[in-house]
Order: sequence, then C-alpha cells, then structure tokens
Amino acid sequence: MNKHITSPATLLFRNIPQVVTIFEKLIPEMNVTNSPIKILVYGCSSGEEPLSVSAVSELYDFDITIDAFDNSRSVLDMRDDSKTIHLDWHHGERLEYIKKLLSEFFVESDNKYSPIETIRKKIKFGFGDVFDPEFMQEIKDVHIIMIQNMFVHYIADDVRLMLKNIIPQLAVGGFLICGAYSKARYEALSDFPELVPIDYNIEEIHNAWVLRKHYYDPKKGDDNIIGLEPLNKDHKDWKLRYSSIFKHIPRGSA
Ligand SMILES: C[S@@+](CC[C@H](N)C(=O)[O-])C[C@H]1O[C@@H](n2cnc3c(N)ncnc32)[C@H](O)[C@@H]1O
Repeated sequence: MNKHITSPATLLFRNIPQVVTIFEKLIPEMNVTNSPIKILVYGCSSGEEPLSVSAVSELYDFDITIDAFDNSRSVLDMRDDSKTIHLDWHHGERLEYIKKLLSEFFVESDNKYSPIETIRKKIKFGFGDVFDPEFMQEIKDVHIIMIQNMFVHYIADDVRLMLKNIIPQLAVGGFLICGAYSKARYEALSDFPELVPIDYNIEEIHNAWVLRKHYYDPKKGDDNIIGLEPLNKDHKDWKLRYSSIFKHIPRGSA
C-alpha cells in the first residue's frame, strides 16, 4: 500500500468554477468571524493550485491563510518557477476571467507567468505526507482542505487511510475539496457519512476538469484510471460520486 506512482501534473486555474465556489458559497456559509479562514492544500505539486486560490481570493474581502504540502521535494523545489498555462483549453466567460486574473496578479514573460508578491506571500509551502500520522495529527481546525487529483492515483484502501488522517483536521462545518471522480475515491468516501456531498455548481465544476476529461475512454468503464467519467445523474448516490466538495458534519452534531 501507499506505493503508487503519482503524477505531479498540475495547472494554473485548473478549475475556476470550483475556486469561485469557495469564495462565493463555502466561506460565507461557514460564517467565521474570529480568525482567518485556514485553507490547506495537500498534494500541491509545484504550487499552481494554491496560487490559483490565492489569486481568486484577491477579488474578495476575506482574511485567509494558505498552507500547501507535498511529499515530493523535487516538485516543491519548482514552486517559484514561472508557470505555463493552456489558455486554449478554456473558453467564454471562464477564459475572460482567467485573462483578468493573469493580467492583475501575474507577470508574463515568454508565455510563462509568475505571481506578483501579494499572491505568492499568502502561501506557506512545506513537506508533508498525508499518510504520515505524526505530521497529520499536529494539524487541527482547518476550514477548507483541498486534496485534488490525488486520490485517483491510489486504491480505495489507501484513500480510506488518507481520509482517516484528514477528517480530524477539519473544523465542524468545514469543507473537504477532493475532485475529481475515481472508482477508489467513490468507494472510500462511501464509508464516511460525516462527509456530506455538496451540490453547489456540481455540473459546472465536474465539467471543468479539462485535463482529466481528455483522457476518458468509454470502452474502459471502471478501468479508466486518469480518465474522468462524465457526470451521470442516473447513478445511485450521484452527488457522492461526482461532487468535489464535502461538508464535514460529524455524526450526532447536525
Ligand atoms: C496529480 S498532482 C495534483 C496537483 C494538484 N493538487 C492539482 O490538482 O493540480 C498529485 C500531487 O500529489 C502529491 N502526492 C502524492 N501522494 C502524496 C502524499 N501521500 N502526500 C502528499 N502529497 C502527495 C504528488 O507528489 C503530486 O505532486
């Protein structure tokens, strides 16, 4: 177990509808008044995901902190490299939104983008392995935990182990953001009823995983590893299967 080869693939602004949902829906719903909103990103790779959250946060008036961890020192070493972006993978309003973020919060050189200091300084990067109980036990009262495009690389038993370490870190009423669909993720999440799937913008968010969708092969069915199954509301438990956002409601606290 825990020995799967994972990929460091990541992208700037990989899922804009999801990040906007954090600021438009999740943070207002938590109504945190006495402290900054604590956001934690596991499997942050070279930093594109926390940078995307940090850039969008500039458009809102919330006090946030972002801690970002990965268990690969080589990807963390690339955190301050300039970033590539595939603008041709986006269209319409999403493309316009991304262009606005790039022009306001990044500096372009040779088609690569570096964040301005305001965006970069909101993020603290560190080494951390989600399977390491000692490291995980130290972290508490997090409002939003993001662990994305990671469960897809692991079997269901490994995802269960990760969830057992992560759930105690979440504040009651906090959110786990763990896109996107894989069979192992669905099977593991089914065992944790204290994580309740949230359907805000569920289709828009699911359909925004451009890179994963590209690899989907309908002939492979459940053997699709990286390929993202299209959202199908005929599935029993379709929200659990396709949502990338789960609210932490411990049993007995509702
Ligand atoms: C496919 S990338 C996803 C990056 C980013 N979250 C995203 O969605 O764009 C997966 C990342 O998870 C990291 N990772 C894999 N297993 C991990 C673990 N047990 N603890 C922490 N990070 C892990 C890998 O090193 C890699 O950088």
